[in-house]
Amino acid sequence: MTAQRIDGKAIAAQIREQVRLQVEQRKLQGLRAPGLAVILVGQDPASQVYVGNKRRACEQVGFVSRSYDLPVSTQASELLELIDQLNVDAEIDGILVQLPLPDHIDSTQVIERIHPDKDVDGFHPYNIGRLAQRIPVLRPCTPMGIMTLVESTGRKTHGLHAVVVGASNIVGRPMSLELLLAGCTTTTCHRFTEDLAYHVGQADLLIVAVGKPGFIPGEWIKPGAIVIDVGINRLPSGKLTGDVAFEAAAERAGHITPVPGGVGPMTIASLLQNTLYACEQYHG
Ligand code: GUN
Repeated sequence: MTAQRIDGKAIAAQIREQVRLQVEQRKLQGLRAPGLAVILVGQDPASQVYVGNKRRACEQVGFVSRSYDLPVSTQASELLELIDQLNVDAEIDGILVQLPLPDHIDSTQVIERIHPDKDVDGFHPYNIGRLAQRIPVLRPCTPMGIMTLVESTGRKTHGLHAVVVGASNIVGRPMSLELLLAGCTTTTCHRFTEDLAYHVGQADLLIVAVGKPGFIPGEWIKPGAIVIDVGINRLPSGKLTGDVAFEAAAERAGHITPVPGGVGPMTIASLLQNTLYACEQYHG
């Protein structure tokens, strides 16, 4: 079997176009454009690229994009003060603080300071709690985008055995909550999991988010499975590659996401959807 590729780039482009049209409609009705504030602390090169992409995407759909580039020496108190100001800023619907933060800043304290109605990353315990209780509002962007990719396959999720490899706050944990919400039987694997090959082999739907190139051999994949690869790893050659050994996995899977062009573009598409949602539902 050769798997069907899931074209995240094309699906994300469709979502961006939908958001752009909705923003255009708002403006025609005399309503203001949604506004997103993106905060970057320090000069981590990967974060600079991600943040640049987020800001550009905002501008392309007609959002107000506010950029805050703070030095690595920024104190937690200064960052918290900026968040306090943005929490009451009527032009701003979403506040995104790019992670990771420098070690001297407690990211939990920062995330909890963002008003839940402006938490377009969906990381605040309020929003995670809503997701856990089956009443989601703002949902973490990468898992939300992955659910859109899974829906695009046309496969029903109810009753599928979903296996998530990785249990981070940004992807793995909220991913498992999304899958539970979608009616999957879920298994979450992490660094202490024994016999990972066994668990991966049980997956009708496999999501891998560990950040290690080729971590999952293709031979482990259950024939016909949907395989979603969240990893974006740069090899010494400069080539980008995922956490799943793609070629061998594509021989067995029913559907598979490529890297790049799979999950990556969906995170930003979901961020745009969340910011529009926050604007319309919470801030008019
Ligand atoms: N760092 C890696 N992924 C993300 C994300 O989705 N949001 C934020 N704020 N930081 C990240």
